[in-house]
Amino acid sequence: MLLEVKDLEVAYGDFQVVWGVSLTVDEGEVVTLLGPNGSGKSTILNTISGLVPVLRGDILVRGASIAKRPTHHRTGLGIAHVLERRRVYPYLTVRQNLLLGAWHAKAKAVRDETLAQMVEMFPILKDRTDQLAHTLSGGEQQMLALARGLMAKPQLLMVDEPFLGLAPQVVEQLKAVFAGIRDSGIAILFIEQNVRLALSMADRGYVLESGRLAISGKARGLMNHKTVRRVFLGG
Ligand SMILES: Nc1ncnc2c1ncn2[C@@H]1O[C@H](COP(=O)(O)OP(=O)(O)OP(=O)(O)O)[C@@H](O)[C@H]1O
Ligand SMILES: [Mg+2]
Repeated sequence: MLLEVKDLEVAYGDFQVVWGVSLTVDEGEVVTLLGPNGSGKSTILNTISGLVPVLRGDILVRGASIAKRPTHHRTGLGIAHVLERRRVYPYLTVRQNLLLGAWHAKAKAVRDETLAQMVEMFPILKDRTDQLAHTLSGGEQQMLALARGLMAKPQLLMVDEPFLGLAPQVVEQLKAVFAGIRDSGIAILFIEQNVRLALSMADRGYVLESGRLAISGKARGLMNHKTVRRVFLGG
């Protein structure tokens, strides 16, 4: 198993927000984490990448615990995290943003090669390598954020709400990019508010409700499941 989260509990000070969550991502798998606002989705990704500490439970990458490792070690172990609201460095160029994604030793050694692959994978970035990132559109910035994540040569790419606020046409482009990432053998764990969109892209899904898992399973089986409807529509 590539990633295993076991009985995870997370708190901000005295305020516990994640309760006994277990999830897995296999090599090359696409998994979505669903749940209403404030249900703990971002907190879980942030805990996996080490931005937020584990209160109880464990996080394993290929069987080895990473729960106490600093974030930069986790990147070296093949976990890349694209944060919500596609945070790129606004006053650096596209190229500079991309190169910053390849700072750990393994990625740095092949960064020119990876950069060339990224420009091919995201043609939208090609003519813009010397442009400042803040001058890109929302969709282009999301492409840049994904490409920067991929510059770290991850085995698992975690993405927090990549489709937020994007036009339908851009969503379609981005879906194609995700398909390309998956075809290259990289596993994806992503958060998305649009249940139908998320399940149409994923192999499996986990649905959170107030920091606890409400249900998980194959994406197809979750599509019209009554528990999923209850969590998102109430009643
Ligand atoms: N830095 C923080 N300090 C204190 N509480 C926080 C912090 N970040 C998140 N929370 C709280 O933790 C809970 C889970 O938040 P989280 O951001 O993980 O949810 P989410 O499912 O990603 O929500 P959204 O769909 O709005 O992005 C919420 O109650 C939130 O208010
Ligand atoms: Mg969130």
